[in-house]
Amino acid sequence: MQKHLRKKLFPKDFTPEIGIILGSGMGQSFSGLKIIAQIPYAAIPGFVVPTTPGHPGKLLLGTLAEKKVAIFLGRIHYYEGFPMEKVVQTVKLAGDLGIKTLILTAAVGAINKSYRMGQLVVIKDHINAMGTNPLIGMRSLVDGDQFVDMTDCYSKQLQKIALKIARGLRMRIASGVYCAVSGPSYETKSEIRAYQVLGADVMGMSMVPEVIAARFLGLEVLGLALVTNMCAGISKEKCSHEEVLKTGKQFQIPLTQIIEQIVRSI
Ligand code: HPA
Repeated sequence: MQKHLRKKLFPKDFTPEIGIILGSGMGQSFSGLKIIAQIPYAAIPGFVVPTTPGHPGKLLLGTLAEKKVAIFLGRIHYYEGFPMEKVVQTVKLAGDLGIKTLILTAAVGAINKSYRMGQLVVIKDHINAMGTNPLIGMRSLVDGDQFVDMTDCYSKQLQKIALKIARGLRMRIASGVYCAVSGPSYETKSEIRAYQVLGADVMGMSMVPEVIAARFLGLEVLGLALVTNMCAGISKEKCSHEEVLKTGKQFQIPLTQIIEQIVRSI
């Protein structure tokens, strides 16, 4: 971002260290957050505004657990029809703001039968089944190596911290593999059986492009998923966005609690 725009939009001398991108239905209920500025996505040059219900499209700057943070309320999904460049707009801005650590949250459907609705999953790896990649053409936008190594793209240290904190808070948590699809339709039962064979524990329509872009920019990443539904054929219930939003809202307090403690220990 150009210097004069940065000066105009962001508070002086405010350099956030940690970025947090919140997923579907996960509002802003961080009890310890002291907000310094609120910036609607519409005011940020080059940004598009999310069209999905449950994604307000607002950037909060402030302090959480004595750390300077940037909290992105709402993300762009590939299924909205925007190019990948816009899907990763928050990550690009996080990099521009000098953020070093990115915490990504997402609502997911569970494939792993031992998982329960409302529980957390620390993402240990992913399968990109979106059929595209945000680094296609990225070289023309940002200098850098497009051929990014994705071994251990989710920080092992941050995973350890998250698991320890969740256990300390007596939260149900697992460590699992996230499989990203484009959506917006949910998967068929046969697709779920196929992704199960491939090694997926949870399914989602976000997170992965952001992780790829973050690793391209050299950011450390933690992926935290909230199980909002069981995938097709795993339970008899049908999948719906209303259910995803409802469960996201219902369990956002434990999620924000754990994030607050993670931020404290980074
Ligand atoms: N499938 C894909 N993405 C999702 C799901 C699901 O079941 N739930 C929330 N995001």
